[in-house]
Amino acid sequence: SPFDNVESFVKSLQRPRKIMLMVNAGKTIDAVIEDLLPFLSKDDILIDGGNSNYLKTQERADYLRSKNINFIGAGVSGGEAGALKGPSIMPSGTIESYKAVQPFLEAIAAKDQNNLPCCTHIGTGGSGHFVKMVHNGIEYVEMQLLAEVCTILSRLGNNLDEIARILESWKTTVDSYLLEITIEILRKKEGGDWLINKIMDKAGNKGTGNWATIATAELGMPSTMIASALFARYVSFFKEERVAASKHFESQNKSQPKITNTELLKAYQFARIINHHQGFKLMQKASEKMQWNLNLSELARIWTNGCIVKSDLMTELVAVFKKTNNALTEDSVVKELRARKEAIKSVVSECILHDLPISSMSESINFLNSFAVENSSANLIQAQRDYFGAHTYQKRDDPSGKYYHTDWKN
Ligand code: 6PG
Repeated sequence: SPFDNVESFVKSLQRPRKIMLMVNAGKTIDAVIEDLLPFLSKDDILIDGGNSNYLKTQERADYLRSKNINFIGAGVSGGEAGALKGPSIMPSGTIESYKAVQPFLEAIAAKDQNNLPCCTHIGTGGSGHFVKMVHNGIEYVEMQLLAEVCTILSRLGNNLDEIARILESWKTTVDSYLLEITIEILRKKEGGDWLINKIMDKAGNKGTGNWATIATAELGMPSTMIASALFARYVSFFKEERVAASKHFESQNKSQPKITNTELLKAYQFARIINHHQGFKLMQKASEKMQWNLNLSELARIWTNGCIVKSDLMTELVAVFKKTNNALTEDSVVKELRARKEAIKSVVSECILHDLPISSMSESINFLNSFAVENSSANLIQAQRDYFGAHTYQKRDDPSGKYYHTDWKN
């Protein structure tokens, strides 16, 4: 039933009332909460299904608890199609309030390959919106990687229909929602030309990639690919300055990059695995810090359908995260990365030599090169810190972890 009056709407509901808000994140949520509050009763449940900042969700939950109202922050992914066919839902709050809304949320959620709902109780507080924020971070990277793949395929001389055909042939190996929509986008024509050629090359954002980058920095986690995909969008925004810079720095290398489609596919697979590894590590770290007890395998499972990052890789990760929280130690993942390492090295090198912008792809191999080393150059950083600021350092041969300081000038 439609209502144009908040009071009559609220009064029409059975108690405890369960009200789901699907309004713009930010101030609008607070305004709607204030509109509803005078008519709510003890134990009613409000659900925020927007892309809210998880810290605000935590605050709103505390505020509403002081008024005896339960609050569920629910990440909802799937865009317009998800809204019609069933989204992936990431609700958090007390387990009691989740149980009260569970039948409704599960009924509207997408279903996984075993017909289970793509909806699960994520944890307490703002964990649902945190997890949705990381989903969006992973989404930013997946989109950026596809954009980089298209840049490379175009530099190799393929037109947009040919690129679409190549990506179509990849579907048997790396199918995903984002790959599918990219193929459709590439084929779309308007007035005899490809529509994509008419679209201004300045990427927008509504904040979740920014928050994910802030969160990864605050939690001390190297989710470098999310940051690189966010910054690629920011770089794109400086259109006028980019045009000016291009006059000075445009590539002089007109030769054909030596990249085969098979190599590019392998490089793309490599980068995607690192992206997912970093995203899930970020959630694991937040879970430890905030005591959310997140189940990474279950998170991968509810992202196998209904959401923007659904993919065959996500389905594989359900099993991986059943065994470990660190994908880089899992045999099948190690094997896949090793089998694709030569390809990412050669694709990234060729792109650099030919001045192609591939910041996220190159970040994936740079991350592994920095991470998978027994001895890093961080000893020099420690020595420099100690030299100018007496910040002290630990010694490799002292297992006590004692801190030392050296008078470097004497
Ligand atoms: C989803 C999407 C959705 C929205 C993004 C867009 O999961 O359904 O992630 O939440 O499309 O927030 O984000 P940007 O505007 O920042 O690209």
